Amino acid sequence: MAHTKTAIVTGGAKGIGKACAEVLAAAGYRVAILDKDESAAGIASAIPGDCRSLTCDVSSYEDVRRAFERFVKESGRLDVLVNNAGYHISKSVEHTTEQEWDFILATNLKSVFLCSKFAIPLLRQSRGSIVNMSSMVGLVGQTNAGAYSASKGGIIAMAKGMALDLAPDGIRVNCVCPGWVSTPLVDDWFGQQRNPEESRRHIYALHPLGRISSADEVARAVLFLASEQASFITGIALPVDGAVTLGY
Ligand SMILES: NC(=O)c1ccc[n+]([C@@H]2O[C@H](COP(=O)([O-])OP(=O)(O)OC[C@H]3O[C@@H](n4cnc5c(N)ncnc54)[C@H](O)[C@@H]3O)[C@@H](O)[C@H]2O)c1
Repeated sequence: MAHTKTAIVTGGAKGIGKACAEVLAAAGYRVAILDKDESAAGIASAIPGDCRSLTCDVSSYEDVRRAFERFVKESGRLDVLVNNAGYHISKSVEHTTEQEWDFILATNLKSVFLCSKFAIPLLRQSRGSIVNMSSMVGLVGQTNAGAYSASKGGIIAMAKGMALDLAPDGIRVNCVCPGWVSTPLVDDWFGQQRNPEESRRHIYALHPLGRISSADEVARAVLFLASEQASFITGIALPVDGAVTLGY
């Protein structure tokens, strides 16, 4: 009998993660959002399809262990892990405090390690896949983003190593590298600039396609890499960036 495929999306309460949860649920996956934001419960229940949430700080070993324990009890299997949760601080290495460094690396990179660690035994049974949300910054760097660049580059290097380790088990591991994406985070950033309209025009113009992407456009690339459509693709970092990295 055909079984329902299941997916975990970290940081799925808003932005790109929410779009990933929506796209996966629309494709028939049973989705669980892992987010530290308690409003995720209401957001998950409003997503059409089978979607729920588990409150979890994905940078905490104990939180992740507990969330996976509950997920396994409720779902029994895992086909896809989307490591999406992340945070950005605009600071050069020189001006980054030790606390900020530890926070960014824990939120963006340790979380990928922890969730993958608990997901791998389940993915081995389903021959499933992992998709990590890196960034164009992980490929080409960014000014004033020392810790963020390290975390996003680290995600790509770790994914390539994991793709090699897990290929014999039939588990694929890939990354998506978005350019600028219209999310609450980015809209807030535009709002904080001295001339929001001028900076929006400037950032849009950096993308040869003339605009930034929607969260849905990134989510559809995640669905592709997660699915059987990408059955021979592993260890890649796929830019979804309107070619911004060609001229950045
Ligand atoms: N927005 C962009 O332009 C852009 C571009 C490239 C890459 N990204 C990456 O995409 C991912 C999502 O970005 P976004 O813009 O949608 O962000 P967002 O701030 O809109 O949403 C992030 C979500 O992650 C959750 N989260 C943060 N820390 C967490 C933790 N420790 N445990 C559990 N949940 C946590 C938040 O509660 C929130 O729901 C991030 O990894 C980001 O680095 C974003």
